Amino acid sequence: MTITTVTTQPIAGQKPGTSGLRKKTAVFMGPHYLENFVQAIFDVVGAEGKCFVLGGDGRYFNDRAAQVILRMAAANGAARVIVGKGAILSTPAASHLIRLNQTDGGIIMSASHNPGGPDEDFGVKFNMPNGGPAPEGVTEAMYQRTTTLTEYRMLEAQDVDLSVVGRTHLAGMVVDVVDPVADYAALMESLFDFAAIRAMFVGGFRMRMDSMCAVTGPYAVEILERRLGAAAGTCVNAVPLPDFGGLHPDPNPTWAKGLMDEMFSADAPDFGAASDGDGDRNMVVGRGIYVSPSDSLAVLAANAHLAPGYRVGLKGVARSMPTSAAVDRVAEALGIASYETPTGWKFFGNLLDAGRATICGEESFGTGSDHVREKDGLWAVLLWLNILAVRRESVAAVLSGHWGRFGRNYYSRHDFEAIATDKADAMMAALRASLPDLAGKVVEGLTIAGADDFAYTDPVDGSVSQAQGVRILFQDGSRIVLRLSGTGTEGATLRLYLERYAAGPMGLDLDPQEALAGVIRAAHALAGIERFAGRTAPDVVT
Ligand code: G1P
Ligand code: ZN
Repeated sequence: MTITTVTTQPIAGQKPGTSGLRKKTAVFMGPHYLENFVQAIFDVVGAEGKCFVLGGDGRYFNDRAAQVILRMAAANGAARVIVGKGAILSTPAASHLIRLNQTDGGIIMSASHNPGGPDEDFGVKFNMPNGGPAPEGVTEAMYQRTTTLTEYRMLEAQDVDLSVVGRTHLAGMVVDVVDPVADYAALMESLFDFAAIRAMFVGGFRMRMDSMCAVTGPYAVEILERRLGAAAGTCVNAVPLPDFGGLHPDPNPTWAKGLMDEMFSADAPDFGAASDGDGDRNMVVGRGIYVSPSDSLAVLAANAHLAPGYRVGLKGVARSMPTSAAVDRVAEALGIASYETPTGWKFFGNLLDAGRATICGEESFGTGSDHVREKDGLWAVLLWLNILAVRRESVAAVLSGHWGRFGRNYYSRHDFEAIATDKADAMMAALRASLPDLAGKVVEGLTIAGADDFAYTDPVDGSVSQAQGVRILFQDGSRIVLRLSGTGTEGATLRLYLERYAAGPMGLDLDPQEALAGVIRAAHALAGIERFAGRTAPDVVT
């Protein structure tokens, strides 16, 4: 087989964001686009003699992109690629395979929770040998490489048959096609009390797991229905489709409305959950009660010791800055460290690697632990099931018990989507400029205690990340955070995070939007969202 060196030229804007390079599918399918970025990856990390994991969430173009990446890996001298059957791997399963096989990293094809299809989104990201997303220094080097490269290497060969598990070869490179589910399911079985969960299902516990026609379908069916004995039909939307069946595979109350309706209906099951396109996000719902991701993180941290994998206790916890401080209160009670990092899972990697944190989470429906180096949707679902099985309580009882003990951090995120980029930038610039004068000001009856633009110094490697989001703290402990999304593909998305703490047995049962009404008004007044962006109401509320 021949290796061709294809002459190309740099393509503008191949800059990976917080979760790799994410663009419209048509852009990825354009001439040399995927190839240039993949060559930049191999040029930066080196491919000669190396072993990589490859898989994706099954969205449109996943199969063909996998064949291109395999041919390029072979042309660049890689020794071996471990690829999920059908080029399928959930992001957490890919992270696990990278670690389990002690590989040199992996390429994950996904645009996470963004819709898929010819007119929707596609993405490629590189994960390091520790199983976690490449850090900023590495993605920046990849980007720099895309601005200068003039050729890429491609093997001339037919497609590899990825439909059968087993070993094949592509020129000199070994291709190991593996069952995408098996090793991941075994890992879950090692962490959780499957016997207790099975007994709960045998006892009549009912669940609805909505995979949103995305990658976790096969994982959920194998683990929940086959291994844990949940009733057939527990898993819905369980067949991954290239366009996710037209769904927006983002597990939140807006996009997983079908699940929400079911969980608030008269015949609601005991427990509901959903996961996103690539399986790293999760939403958890009890019968008639929604669990905010920040509360979920806090409950999981407070109860993790009930699962065998965490019996010895947690080394520490970490949350992204915009995530509510609920988990900090748990850490305080447990006497363990808590860390506040910038948005994006990659900031947890060093803390997990260094053994400083065991469980981490983000308000954006991401929770996970040191078992992999990605957030993990099904992991969170299984830890919840384990907790419910041991405590023999409903989700509602677990939550109210938690709030009674720790107080409640009322929390909500308001997203304003597809704002013209220049308007969003002007708004953030004006807000940033106003920060030094905010302390002491009274807005909507709330006194500002302080304000800053969050900067993070990594406690492990000392690296500094500036300008990670504006924080405005009020004297009563309420908080507003504003930042622009780093993952959107259309204009700018403003994320407004709102939080208010209520302690004691009183005032724990308010509707979050009601509890936060004053904080919401203060945020609009301070940021001028209407003045700059012409928006008075958010597009998505979580
Ligand atoms: C969003 C979430 C963030 C998460 C990221 C990747 O990023 O807010 O917590 O890590 O997706 O799933 P954003 O669009 O806000 O930059
Ligand atoms: Zn995702």
